[in-house]
Amino acid sequence: MTNTAETNDDITALILDDHDTFRRGFAALDELQSPDTDPEEPEARLCAVWGPLADLLDVHAVAEERIFYPVLLRKGDSDKSDEGDAVDETLDAIGDHNDIRDATRAAARHRPGSDAWWEAVNQARTENTEHMGEEEDEALADFRRNTTRAQRAELGRKFTEFKAAHTAADLDTSGQDPERYVDEHLADTAETALGGVAGGH
Ligand SMILES: [Fe+2]
Ligand SMILES: [Fe+2]
Repeated sequence: MTNTAETNDDITALILDDHDTFRRGFAALDELQSPDTDPEEPEARLCAVWGPLADLLDVHAVAEERIFYPVLLRKGDSDKSDEGDAVDETLDAIGDHNDIRDATRAAARHRPGSDAWWEAVNQARTENTEHMGEEEDEALADFRRNTTRAQRAELGRKFTEFKAAHTAADLDTSGQDPERYVDEHLADTAETALGGVAGGH
């Protein structure tokens, strides 16, 4: 357990933890449809599971966009001949986050338990499951290969603080243009690099 405790503040481990929470949240929605579920107040039961799940989907995506992907762009693989470089991984992720956000917003427009609500929730699940697989196999793997444990722990603390300080209600959860996001963060990186050079003289 000591080892686990040591690595638990690694941002890539914290992201995996949230992914597990997502998978279990969607599984809990399945369970609410089982034959032995108490039929009383089905809408309230669905809301009790979906409310926190939808909130975490939104906050998690923004936290990754503020804390994880900017550093992936700076430190991740940059071999342009390889499909899996950090720019490609980030473009994919922001696009996926937008698809997930669209589905959670669609769910918010419908009565929990209605056909339209289930359709939106299932869409969020499908988009999110596909995204998590790619993020885990590509972006998180790239990040671990190219950062130190201390860097990942420092970012993990920021990720935890960000999540503790925010709910979806106080964040801008509108879609991000993937190309603009990458351009802006690469420009920030260039400025930081120039500042570093200037500061060194
Ligand atoms: Fe994620
Ligand atoms: Fe993500």
